[in-house]
Amino acid sequence: MAGSILRHFVYLVLVLTVSCQADDYTQYVDVFIGTDGGGNDFPGVSRPFGMVKLGPDVLNGKNDAYSGYASTGNFSGFSLMHEQGTGGAPKYGTVTQLPLVGNISDPLSNITVGRNGTDQASVGYYNAWTNESVMIELAGTHRAGMFRYTFPSSDDTKNVLVDASHFLPDFRGSGLAQTYQGGNITVFNDGHYEGNGAYNNGWNRSPDWSIYFCGYFDTTITTNTTYNATDSTGSIAQSSGSAFSNSSETRVGALFSFNSSDVVSRVGISWISTTRACQNLENEIPPNSNFTQLIEETKTEWNNDVLSKIKTSATNTTSLQLLYSSLYFMHLIPTNQTGEQPAWNSTEPYYQDIFTFWDLFRCGTALMHVLQPVAYEEQLRSIIDIWRNEGYLPDARSSNYNGRTQGGSNADNVLADAYVKGVRGQINWHDGFAAMVKDAEVQPNNTDPVDPQAPDSSTKEGRGALPDWLEYGFISPNYTRSVSRAVEYAYNDFSLYQVAKGLGEQSDQYLNRSRNWRNHFNPDATALGFSGFVTARNLSGFQETDVMDSTGYWGDLLYEGSAWAYSFTDIHDAAAMIDLMGGSTAFEERLNKTFEAGANDGSNIFDPTNEPMFAVPYLYNYINRPDLTVLQSRTIAKSNYSTSSSGLPGNSDAGAMQTWLIWNMIGLYPVTGQNTFLIHSPWFDEMVIDLGSGKELNITATGGDNNGDSQYYVQELRVNGQSWNQTWLTWQDVFEDGGSLEFELGDEPQQWAMGPLPPSPASESTGS
Ligand SMILES: *[C@@H]1O[C@H](CO)[C@@H](O)[C@H](O)[C@H]1NC(C)=O
Ligand SMILES: *[C@@H]1O[C@H](CO)[C@@H](O)[C@H](O)[C@H]1NC(C)=O
Ligand SMILES: *[C@@H]1O[C@H](CO)[C@@H](O)[C@H](O)[C@H]1NC(C)=O
Ligand SMILES: *[C@@H]1O[C@H](CO)[C@@H](O)[C@H](O)[C@H]1NC(C)=O
Ligand SMILES: *[C@@H]1O[C@H](CO)[C@@H](O)[C@H](O)[C@H]1NC(C)=O
Ligand SMILES: *[C@@H]1O[C@H](CO)[C@@H](O)[C@H](O)[C@H]1NC(C)=O
Ligand SMILES: *[C@@H]1O[C@H](CO)[C@@H](O)[C@H](O)[C@H]1NC(C)=O
Ligand SMILES: *[C@@H]1O[C@H](CO)[C@@H](O)[C@H](O)[C@H]1NC(C)=O
Ligand SMILES: *[C@@H]1O[C@H](CO)[C@@H](O)[C@H](O)[C@H]1NC(C)=O
Ligand SMILES: *[C@@H]1O[C@H](CO)[C@@H](O)[C@H](O)[C@H]1NC(C)=O
Ligand SMILES: *[C@@H]1O[C@H](CO)[C@@H](O)[C@H](O)[C@H]1NC(C)=O
Ligand SMILES: *[C@@H]1O[C@H](CO)[C@@H](O)[C@H](O)[C@H]1NC(C)=O
Repeated sequence: MAGSILRHFVYLVLVLTVSCQADDYTQYVDVFIGTDGGGNDFPGVSRPFGMVKLGPDVLNGKNDAYSGYASTGNFSGFSLMHEQGTGGAPKYGTVTQLPLVGNISDPLSNITVGRNGTDQASVGYYNAWTNESVMIELAGTHRAGMFRYTFPSSDDTKNVLVDASHFLPDFRGSGLAQTYQGGNITVFNDGHYEGNGAYNNGWNRSPDWSIYFCGYFDTTITTNTTYNATDSTGSIAQSSGSAFSNSSETRVGALFSFNSSDVVSRVGISWISTTRACQNLENEIPPNSNFTQLIEETKTEWNNDVLSKIKTSATNTTSLQLLYSSLYFMHLIPTNQTGEQPAWNSTEPYYQDIFTFWDLFRCGTALMHVLQPVAYEEQLRSIIDIWRNEGYLPDARSSNYNGRTQGGSNADNVLADAYVKGVRGQINWHDGFAAMVKDAEVQPNNTDPVDPQAPDSSTKEGRGALPDWLEYGFISPNYTRSVSRAVEYAYNDFSLYQVAKGLGEQSDQYLNRSRNWRNHFNPDATALGFSGFVTARNLSGFQETDVMDSTGYWGDLLYEGSAWAYSFTDIHDAAAMIDLMGGSTAFEERLNKTFEAGANDGSNIFDPTNEPMFAVPYLYNYINRPDLTVLQSRTIAKSNYSTSSSGLPGNSDAGAMQTWLIWNMIGLYPVTGQNTFLIHSPWFDEMVIDLGSGKELNITATGGDNNGDSQYYVQELRVNGQSWNQTWLTWQDVFEDGGSLEFELGDEPQQWAMGPLPPSPASESTGS
């Protein structure tokens, strides 16, 4: 008995030791991956879905720092609010502090300070040095941040500047620069400060929004001064301890000075009030909080809530870093602002910084559902509540504003995907469907607002080009982005069909509408020896369209992708698409051409830097050539993603890029809006995905190299122990109650897939 207790004890100690080491997945997160080279990843401090993202704001006077960070340039501040991985124009960079040495005569004059060396950071911790020999260390929680400054021990004055008018500027000159619109700050007798700032614009063309802050110093303040400033007068000290402004003309801020070299500050934020900002701070980082402890808590939260959701047999550090860093970056936004919605009171959860569904609906949301069923249900309730209170579902909601919509009303795809996969919980699907119907039937107000880059119709929400779509079943060039919007509207209408059918509502009209992308398919349009592409058209027929031109933007026929690319969009109608493109051999040739190096006059056709072509490498499954899917998608993954600071092919886009990569590692690809997953090939000998509620998906591979570099062709597959010969499976097969995928891999392609093709629901009922 005693002996067995002892053995048991020894065993427990061993298990605990092993699991303690094994469980710290944060060691594989490199927060600088994808921060350079246009990836725009945010390397600062954040909790999963955290409202606070505390990190540096770097200026070099000519390039935009979209997430605040850039590897070169000077610090303009360290701010609590940032976006993850977005492009277009910077957003936030608000609620800031900046340590400065010496006498500061004009504090509100856009002061920057040089950096010394390279910033260092890991999950929950950021460290930077200024060229005034000040070390800045950052840690944080969901709604508050902690600053630790170590000043040089010289006699020079040690200051911290709080500039309520600070934000991330935009140098591109595209009319999307944020501006400051007023603010105020008060220093109280105990030395704490409260205030707010108002700002507007940014990529999503937001009107004015306000953020409230509450800051404390845990170090004795020697002097404090509040200031106002205009560019002409410079900073003027106030006698009252407060500075107020309700205009963009007058900046406000405060300067705090210290004798001690060690200065600690804690700052909370709120979208509601300064009182709430102080409460958030008190709840999360009370006085005398332990900085190191805060970092540990951040790591624990990431490990428990995010990183431990996927476990693998991988031993290759590069792959482990790619996997866990990707998981990390996909969970920075949207932000969980439940209880922090300034415009309405609701008992529903509230998430924002959905930046954007246009980017996320293919891979991001489907993976969020798998890994975070609880948060995901909250996110869906939140977008339906946004419709309830503001009239439309969002596409690119930031600073609590729905704009801006690049293509279709793609929240419809997200809702349909959840619906067909059985997400119910506390979601009011009656309302969810009503919100989708609004997108499909009611054009948003054309002039609310006028978007100078696309003045034909509002880009704020919904479907701006709806009148043509409803009247003609195509979109004329009277509307900007007519072709790319049309193919997306068709996808959106298929999504409506899915939910309508499930709810027993009239659904046929939406299935019919989902086929209208075909109205843009011009069989006579040619490029590179292929014919049949989606092109511009009006009532008199098709119009000249440069099929290979992928440079379009807001005012053009196609947005950020070519007609070649957008012709592959409507995979709910894949069988018809393949027919229109000349049948399966021609389709295979066309896909091959898409991936042929330099096929388009020396450039590649496939664009790994953006979302519209995410699904294309996987479309070989629709002609039962999953071996070519594996070849192309693996080549793309291995050649476009790395662990370097420029390791992403394009803007991360809220983690969209990273989720494409994670699906590539898993060996499945989600067909959003359907319960279908396309099968390709996993990277590792073993992967276990925690599906929540005690369910797991177990993926094993024998015969591979445990890293996905070689021997990646599927020889045989068993799904839940049963031999499998189709290139797809459903949510119900392996996710709903968990399941297993057992791959046998090898060097040479095998024709293992002889079974039925993946569903093409819009094609089937017309016999296409
Ligand atoms: C400070 O920066 C803002 C935003 O870039 C700019 O509008 C303003 O003119 C600058 N002020 C000074 C004094 O340089
Ligand atoms: C910059 O960092 C180096 C290395 O830590 C240090 O020796 C030097 O004094 C620093 N210079 C400034 C201006 O802080
Ligand atoms: C502070 O500024 C906000 C607007 O930015 C305003 O609503 C508020 O009334 C101001 N507070 C004071 C005390 O002036
Ligand atoms: C802040 O400055 C004012 C004006 O000099 C002074 O009266 C007050 O005591 C200072 N507060 C703190 C906490 O140092
Ligand atoms: C700035 O502060 C000075 C000194 O208190 C005051 O006279 C002036 O009215 C303030 N300017 C603005 C625009 O608030
Ligand atoms: C802060 O927390 C760390 C880690 O938990 C601990 O080692 C350290 O002793 C704590 N420091 C203080 C001052 O309590
Ligand atoms: C780890 O993976 C990378 C990326 O696939 C590969 O280049 C490298 O050779 C691998 N390292 C080892 C030791 O297998
Ligand atoms: C929300 O409710 C609180 C408490 O009843 C109230 O003070 C506040 O004004 C309400 N906010 C809105 C936006 O209705
Ligand atoms: C979102 O935030 C609310 C309020 O803090 C919290 O109750 C909820 O659990 C959070 N959701 C998740 C998934 O963490
Ligand atoms: C459309 O928006 C404009 C600008 O906000 C507004 O003036 C107008 O009343 C709105 N029209 C309708 C029908 O709501
Ligand atoms: C496009 O706009 C023109 C000018 O308003 C109009 O005459 C034409 O009918 C419109 N085309 C379509 C297809 O609605
Ligand atoms: C497509 O490319 C693959 C791999 O290079 C090749 O084996 C196949 O024959 C090509 N298909 C056609 C139809 O040309």
